[in-house]
Amino acid sequence: MNDMTPTSAERAAKLEGMGCKRKRVEDIRFVQGKGSYVDDIKLSGMLYGDLVRSPHGHARVKKIDTTKAAALPGVVAVITAETLKTVNLAWMPTLAGDTQMVLADGKVLFQNQEVAFVIAESRETAADAVELVEVEYEPLPVNVDPLKAMTDGAPMIREDLKDKTDGAHGKRKHYNHIFSWQAGDKAAADAAFAKADVTIKEMIVYPRVHPCPLETCQCVASFDKIKGELTLWGTFQAPHVIRTVGSLISKIPEHKIHVIAPDIGGGFGNKVGAYPGYICAIVASIVTGRPVKWTEDRIENLSTTAFARDFHMDVEVAATKDGRVTGLRCYTIADHGAFDACANATKWPAGLFSIISGSYDFPAAHCLVDGVYTNKAPGGVAYRCSFRVTEAAYCIERAMDIMAQKLGMDPAEFRMKNLIRREQFPYTSAFGWQYDSGDYQTALNKAMESVDYKKLREEQKAKREAFKRGETRELMGIGVAFFTEIVGAGPSRACDILGIAMFDSAEIRIHPTGSGICRLGTKSQGQGHETTYAQIIATELGLPADSITVEEGNTDTAPYGLGTYGSRSTPVSGAATAMACRKIKAKAQMIAAYMLEVHDDDLEWDVDRFRVKGNPERFKTMTELAWAAYHEVPPGMEPGLEAINYYDPPNFTYPFGAYICVVDIDIDTGQSKVRRFYALDDCGTRINPMIIEGQIHGGLTEAFGIAMGQEIHYDADGNVTTASFLDYFLPTAVETPHWETDWTTTPSPHHPIGAKGVGESPNVGGVPCFSNAINDAFAFLGSTHIQMPHDHWRTWMAADKLGLHA
Ligand code: CDP
Repeated sequence: MNDMTPTSAERAAKLEGMGCKRKRVEDIRFVQGKGSYVDDIKLSGMLYGDLVRSPHGHARVKKIDTTKAAALPGVVAVITAETLKTVNLAWMPTLAGDTQMVLADGKVLFQNQEVAFVIAESRETAADAVELVEVEYEPLPVNVDPLKAMTDGAPMIREDLKDKTDGAHGKRKHYNHIFSWQAGDKAAADAAFAKADVTIKEMIVYPRVHPCPLETCQCVASFDKIKGELTLWGTFQAPHVIRTVGSLISKIPEHKIHVIAPDIGGGFGNKVGAYPGYICAIVASIVTGRPVKWTEDRIENLSTTAFARDFHMDVEVAATKDGRVTGLRCYTIADHGAFDACANATKWPAGLFSIISGSYDFPAAHCLVDGVYTNKAPGGVAYRCSFRVTEAAYCIERAMDIMAQKLGMDPAEFRMKNLIRREQFPYTSAFGWQYDSGDYQTALNKAMESVDYKKLREEQKAKREAFKRGETRELMGIGVAFFTEIVGAGPSRACDILGIAMFDSAEIRIHPTGSGICRLGTKSQGQGHETTYAQIIATELGLPADSITVEEGNTDTAPYGLGTYGSRSTPVSGAATAMACRKIKAKAQMIAAYMLEVHDDDLEWDVDRFRVKGNPERFKTMTELAWAAYHEVPPGMEPGLEAINYYDPPNFTYPFGAYICVVDIDIDTGQSKVRRFYALDDCGTRINPMIIEGQIHGGLTEAFGIAMGQEIHYDADGNVTTASFLDYFLPTAVETPHWETDWTTTPSPHHPIGAKGVGESPNVGGVPCFSNAINDAFAFLGSTHIQMPHDHWRTWMAADKLGLHA
C-alpha cells in the first residue's frame, strides 16, 4: 500500500453511508419546483369532480335534486348515493372494521359530510354546479360531546347499527358505543391504590386536532374499459393497502389495479385511509370512461378528512410519600366521530395507548377505553405518532407533573426517581410491552446539565418571589417531559390491518456496473427516504449512496408493503433493506471466493470489498463483484445480483427522549414566549443526523402548534368553527421558536442496524413539554391542570381564574 492508497476510513467516507450528513437527494427537484405531485397529473380528456357537502351536523336528507346542476353546460354527470347503490358502493368498509357512507344515504351525520359528486369538464364548472344541487334537509338533534354520547336520550348517530349488539371489537354498551378495550391488571392496580400514601386524579383532554399536510388529499382515477384496468394516482401513504382495499370494494381484480403515489406534500397520518372522494372519482371514471381528478380544498381537508386525538382521559396515579409510583389507572372516552375510521392495527382499537405507563417503572397499571360515535368527522389517525402514543405520552407526562406538585417534589427529580433503569432492559411494562433498550437516566442527566436546570429553577424561584412582591407581572414556566415511543408496527403476531400482517419489504437489484435500484413498500411524504435508504445500502454493500436509486409508491413495481406512518419505515423497511443487502453480500462473497480461488471463510469484509484474510492486497471490490455476477459466477450459481426481503420485526422499537422548555408568560395579555426548547432524542443508530435534526425541527413545530393553539372545535349545533387557517393555528417561521437538539445513542438490540424510528418522537415529547411549561408557570399559585391548547386567550383566562387580574 503506498501513501496515495485511500485508507478504509477514507473509502468509507466516500460512500456517504450511515452516520453521514448526506444532503437530501430529493431536494434537487423539490427546491426547483420540479416535484411531481398528483395535481401535476394532466391526462387527455380528464374530467374534474367536486363534492356537495352537508351544511348540517345531523339531518335527515329528504330530497336531492340534481336537475339544475346537471343542466349547467360542462357538467357531465352528478352522482348520489342512489347512483352508488347500483354498483354496490354507497357504503365502504373502514380500516377499523366499521362501514362508512360514501355519499349521504338517508342522513348526514356531520357537517361537510359528502352528499353528492359533480363531474365536469373543468374544476371551476364542477364547483359552480355544486352550488346548484338542491338538497332538502330536516335537521336532527346534534351531539358533539363524547362525554354525553352514552347518556340516556343522546341523539342516535348510527341508525344503521341500531340493532347491532356487537361491534368489530365485541359487545356494544349503548347505541352510540363502538368498543371497549382494556389492558393491564385491574385488580393489581386497584390494590396499589388501596394502599397508596398519595394519589392524584385528573381529567386530561387531548383536543381534536388535524394533521393538515400542506398538500390536501387528492387523486386521479383512470379506468380503461378495454383492458378492464384501473390506474389510480393519489396522495397515499400506503399504496398497496389502497390497492387491496380498492380491489375488495370494487371487485376489480387486484392485478388490474395500478396504484401510484407520486411525490407527496406531507401526510402525518392524514393520507393513510380511503376517502369518499377516491371512491367517487373511481366510479365517475368507470361511468364516464374518462380520467377523473378529485382535489380537496383546505376547508374540506380540515373539516372532513381524518382528524387526530379527541381522547378524554381520566387518569389516576398512586405513589408512596417519598415519591415512588406504585399504580396507574386511566379511563378514557375516545371520540371517533360519525364512523369508526381510525387507523390502528386491527387488534388495537385504541392503538398502542397502553404505552401510557411511559418511561416509568409502574408495578401495576390498568386502562380502559370506550370508543363512541358523535356528530363529528370520522378519523382518529396517528398524527405524527404511532397509534395513540401521543395521547398516552401527554396524559402520563401531565400526570407525573401533577403528582410531583402534590408531593412537593421537583418534576425532574420525581421523574429521575421513577424512570426505568438501564439494567432493567429489556423491560416488560405492567401493560405487557417489552421495551427493547434504553438509558433514560443518562439522557435526562444530559438534558438537565445542557440547560443548566438547577440555575433555571433558581431563576424561577427569584421571579416567583418578585411576582409575589408585585414587582413583575411575568411568570416563568419550566417544562420537563420524558417520553418513550413505540414504533415499527409491527410484529405480525400483534399487528395486522384487515388481516394483512404489518411486515414491510425491500427489493434491491445491483446492476453490472455496480449501481443499483432499491424498491420498497413504504412511501416518503417528505422524510427523505430516497436519501437514507441508499445510505443503509452504501454501508451494507460498500457501494456509494449516490449510485443507488430508491423508488417507492408504485404497486406494480414495489414489493408489497404496508406503507409509511407511525415511524415504521426505519424499524421495518430499514431492517428489510439491511437484510436484503446481506443476502446480496453473501452471494458476492461466494463470487469473490471463486475469483480469488480461496474458501469463503478465508475472506473478510473491508468497507467496500472482500479481501483475503492476512493478505489484504488480494481483494475484489463490490463493483468488481457486481460485474462478475453477470458474467463470471461460480459453476452452478444463478447469475445476477439481487435480493428481496420481507421483514416481520420481532418487536417494536422504543425510541425515547428528554425535553426541557422554558416559557415566559405575561399574565395581563396571556401571551407566552418560548425562551428555550431543548430536545434530546435517542433513536438508536443514526442513519442521517441532518435528516434526524430536520425531523425533530418539523415535529417540534407541529407540537408547538398543537400545544399552543390548535383545536378542531365544534359548536353545540355541530358547526365546525375551525375549518380554515384563519381559525386553525398553523405556526409559521414567525411564531416558531428556536430549537436546540441533542442526542444519545442506545441501539435497538433486535434491529439489524440497531436503528429505531424518529419521525414521530418530537410530536410525542414536544406536546407535553410545552404544556408542562405553561402549567408549571402557574403551579406555585395552586393551579393543577390547565387544558390545552394554551393559546393566549386561554392562558389569560387561566390567570383570571386564579384571581391574578383582580
Ligand atoms: O416512517 P417514517 O419515514 O415517517 O419515520 P422514520 O422511520 O422515523 O424515518 C424518518 C426519517 O429519518 C427517514 O429518512 C429515516 O431514514 C431517518 N432516520 C435516521 O436517519 N435514523 C434513524 N435512526 C431513524 C430515522
